[in-house]
Amino acid sequence: MAKIIGGLTTSHIPAVGNAIANEMYDDPYWKPFFDGYPPVWEWLDKHKPDVAINIYNDHGLGFFLDKMPTFAIGAAHEYVNEDEGWGIPQLPPFPGDAKLSWHIIEGMVAREFDITSCQELPVDHGFTVPMQLFWRGAHANPNMPRAIPVSANTVQHPIPTLKRALDFGKALRASIESYPEDIKVVILGTGGLSHQLDGERAGFINKEFDTYCMEKIIDDPEELTKITRMELVEKAGAQGTEFLMWMMMRGALGDNVKALHKNYHIPISNTGAGTMLLECDGVD
Ligand code: DHB
Ligand code: FE
Repeated sequence: MAKIIGGLTTSHIPAVGNAIANEMYDDPYWKPFFDGYPPVWEWLDKHKPDVAINIYNDHGLGFFLDKMPTFAIGAAHEYVNEDEGWGIPQLPPFPGDAKLSWHIIEGMVAREFDITSCQELPVDHGFTVPMQLFWRGAHANPNMPRAIPVSANTVQHPIPTLKRALDFGKALRASIESYPEDIKVVILGTGGLSHQLDGERAGFINKEFDTYCMEKIIDDPEELTKITRMELVEKAGAQGTEFLMWMMMRGALGDNVKALHKNYHIPISNTGAGTMLLECDGVD
């Protein structure tokens, strides 16, 4: 049976893709950010997951305002990266797992989550930057797993509630665990933490709120579901709504997790950058 071994969170800021391309790991601006990843590499080296469920939000590459699925799941054999205009080098296609994708989509719809299934889905920085951060060298890294993109709308209101995001994760867990093959699965929640890139509050970061979210998501994610979407925009910023990805990830990990590693650094670009490694119960 498929087994979920843990969850990883990270920001997916495009400037990180540029810093990786230019190997700026020891640059004074970037070092405190990149120093948050070696403990995650160590854990990934030990457990070697076969598949990464990459929960991210598309920023206008795969979907646009004319068609915006609330929840979408990739069902392709590979996922192509395309130029978004950030100046990040384009990466080769990421191998998928279409058989597992369809199993998950079947499972989610049976659990009353109406999914947009995507047999073609170009993946943007929200997906690619975390793959490069967690599997250094990405395609050159022999341990880079097959990946399945799961996208939720954080761009055009109405966006999902925090409760719906957590419930999505719970249904995702059940859908994955019913897969008959013996594979190890890791869940990524990418994006966030607080940031607002536009309007009067551009540059807004809320360290206190980020710290609260990073604490509560470990042992009491249900408490976070009390935050309304308006409060989320107010406290995390217009794009800080990407915290929904973290909630979806957390829902897929089950009741009890161990937080093995945390890193928080501000600012990277205009964002509070949070990295977490949460291990599922019964994994050692
Ligand atoms: C930026 C873009 C993002 O998609 C994000 O999640 C955070 C920051 C940026 O352009 O700085
Ligand atoms: Fe983003």
